[in-house]
Amino acid sequence: MPSRVELCKVGDVAVGEVRRVEAADFTLAVYNLAGEFYATDDACTHGPGQLSEGFVDGDTIECNFHQGRFDIRTGECVGPPCMVPVKTYKTIVEDGRVFVELG
Ligand code: FES
Repeated sequence: MPSRVELCKVGDVAVGEVRRVEAADFTLAVYNLAGEFYATDDACTHGPGQLSEGFVDGDTIECNFHQGRFDIRTGECVGPPCMVPVKTYKTIVEDGRVFVELG
């Protein structure tokens, strides 16, 4: 059964930005795409890059390490050299706070 964990306040991540958040035993990258919040694992699936240190470009995140790209909404790889999708998490916004369901 997934448990709901608070990540941050809505105002903590500006539109078009990403922020690293540690929650429970997870290290996540939290994104604000035009007011919609998304979360993925922070660790790049390709190597030592951290997606929260990358660059948000539209609905994609570019890893700062080898410039691989993922779709923020789905986690799919959309630019090489990444081959393995990054895990995404369902977010919930309530009372100005962003939560994620971790299972
Ligand atoms: S570590 Fe992210 S693209 Fe290589």
